[in-house]
Amino acid sequence: MSNLISVTTQHDISVVSINNPPVNALSVDVRAGIMHVVNDAQSDANIRAIIIICEGRTFIAGADIKEFGKTPLLPHLPDVVLTIANSNIPVIAAIHGTVLGGGCEIALACHYRVSMSGTKLGMPEVNLGLIPGAGGTQLLPRTVGLKQSLDMIIGGKPINLPNKPDDSLVHDVTNDNLLECALSFAQTIIEQRTFKKTDYPAIVDPDTESARQYGLKLAAKRKGQNAPLRAVEAVLASTTHSLIDGMKLERKLFVESRDSVQSAAMRYAFFAEKSAEKPLKHSQSVDIMPINKVTVIGAGTMGAGIAMSLLASGLDVYLLEINADNLERGLTFIRNTLASSVSKGRIREEQAQQQLARLIGTTQYDTIADSDLVIEAAFESMAVKQDIFSKLEESVSAQCILASNTSYLNIDEIASVVTHRQRVIGLHFFSPAHIMKLLEIVKTKEVDTRVIASCMVFAKKINKQAALVGMCYGFVGNRMYASYGREANYLLLEGCAPEQIDKALVDFGMAMGPLAVNDMSGIDIAYKARKENPNLSTDPSYFLAANLMVEEGRLGQKTSAGFYSYDDKKQRSPDPSVIPIFKVAAETLNIKPQSYTNDEISERLMLALINEGANILKEGIADNAEIIDTIWLNGYGFPRYLGGPMFYAKTMGWPVVKERLLALHAQTGKDWWKPSTYIDEMLSN
Ligand code: 3HC
Repeated sequence: MSNLISVTTQHDISVVSINNPPVNALSVDVRAGIMHVVNDAQSDANIRAIIIICEGRTFIAGADIKEFGKTPLLPHLPDVVLTIANSNIPVIAAIHGTVLGGGCEIALACHYRVSMSGTKLGMPEVNLGLIPGAGGTQLLPRTVGLKQSLDMIIGGKPINLPNKPDDSLVHDVTNDNLLECALSFAQTIIEQRTFKKTDYPAIVDPDTESARQYGLKLAAKRKGQNAPLRAVEAVLASTTHSLIDGMKLERKLFVESRDSVQSAAMRYAFFAEKSAEKPLKHSQSVDIMPINKVTVIGAGTMGAGIAMSLLASGLDVYLLEINADNLERGLTFIRNTLASSVSKGRIREEQAQQQLARLIGTTQYDTIADSDLVIEAAFESMAVKQDIFSKLEESVSAQCILASNTSYLNIDEIASVVTHRQRVIGLHFFSPAHIMKLLEIVKTKEVDTRVIASCMVFAKKINKQAALVGMCYGFVGNRMYASYGREANYLLLEGCAPEQIDKALVDFGMAMGPLAVNDMSGIDIAYKARKENPNLSTDPSYFLAANLMVEEGRLGQKTSAGFYSYDDKKQRSPDPSVIPIFKVAAETLNIKPQSYTNDEISERLMLALINEGANILKEGIADNAEIIDTIWLNGYGFPRYLGGPMFYAKTMGWPVVKERLLALHAQTGKDWWKPSTYIDEMLSN
């Protein structure tokens, strides 16, 4: 047996201890070890109960995801689960940490569960494009009922286990010594002889139809994904099938999911996000700078959102504004948002009060002297930002990290006004900053590794997904977004209606269409930002449609008119009056009307993203494709089941990508369609 499993005998109880760091994933050796030990214990007349427990930070957190996509090795997890479930002697799971996926299935197959208080349990397979594949869809409904099972399996979020026994999920709870608690529980079961084997019949008297409707409603929330529908089918099989037959059906549906492109994309996304945090892991040898007290400069939507995200993570925050009115507006926004979170039950009143107690509003630079980090989120103007950084030089210590939240300005130029430039970095949050996961961490020319590493740790601390990028206009996300928006604008000149373009992208899987997004954020905002781009394209068609909207005073939702028109409730409707504006402009530029299918539209915008992403990789602005995909998944609503634009390029195939780019180059004559040389490198690999 491998050294990942050890067995000790305590009186008449066999204790199986798993030690497969970091999360005790069910690799082949762990599966084989558990199966072997459970079988052995049953054939030993002196053993009357088995305890399965894990060392380290958690009970088993799932199947070993790295094994998916490789030839499956015996024993399969369902067989391990059935061996436990069918054991002649009681098996007790002693659980702590995060009991997930295959780990949850092992725990549910055990006849009893003893937990450490604070344990979480869940079936997150759907987040990997999968369904539970080792009895989860059959055992969970038999434990907590159909509705809660559907919530957990389709929602994919773990639940907090009760802190008292509920005799279904948990039979005993401790906040002290888990093994001792499990041993004493096992002893009671042995003494009372309460253990009875079951053959797990189908659930009796289920309200199958209402459960089906409920499941389908939950599945619809995961737009475009196939696994949730398979999950509904599998869970409902528990009402008609015995455990063993239900598991056969579940396995078939699991294998279909596992072998799908969607699951490959979502598994890739899981590891891509971990790898984007890798500089954090490397940084463990670096002396990390403590960041506990943070100043946010600017109390507008962005600054207030950043402040809220810091407060929610337990940090002390100074919010600095140039005058009392602006400051009060920002503080009111924060108070109101927290009050609304309390009324929606997202946080408790005392949590909101604790957060507010850690917030100090000020208009004085003297107040912020003891900051560990300053995040400037002021107006997007080089002069304004340089003025702020000059003031910071005099008001905070030379060790304090100075960050700009600019979305596109050159941070090296901002840094030029300070003496210790090695502490200047970009921390680019995405709006609304207290909700969006992404944090682009932008390297400046002179930045110290220690500052980068400390910001990576800081990102984790404030529950953001870090993505380390280099300096260029718009960094990675907004630079790519510009190429995507450019094509949406060009298609308007070619005669597509805004609603057709947006629908094509929403059908593709994007959270929103690009023109509706532009209306929401304000067409003038991006218009002004383009003016700051030192390398702005001089092509007359470049964002011409958006420029015309601004010239017409159609700035988006805020003026009730942009690419669409809006009613009092900000409800969007198509506005035919914009079409002639684009038509006249197209005629001036001799752009011929074309008709496109929705697939052609979404492909065109994807190709724009892919080619710009490839240029970014070629220039070394992002170290790898995983960083780009992490940015698009966490900051721009790219569908996770497609993996991100660079993964999508691989799904299309690089030869197809190149061929289509060349065709677009020939059709439009635009240089931006010349395939990036990075694509040739991919083709020669
Ligand atoms: N398989 C393989 N590796 C895993 C893993 C898994 N199931 N879960 C985590 N890891 C790895 C991570 O990749 C990471 O590796 P690295 O150090 O080389 O980057 C390491 O474990 C630590 O993970 P985190 O950095 O995420 O640690 P956290 O403490 O932040 O989170 C966790 C721990 C909550 C367990 C989180 O890692 C997680 O959610 N993991 C995925 C759990 C999951 O999806 N389980 C279901 C798998 S599918 C399944 O079980 C199918 C079954 O039904 C048949």
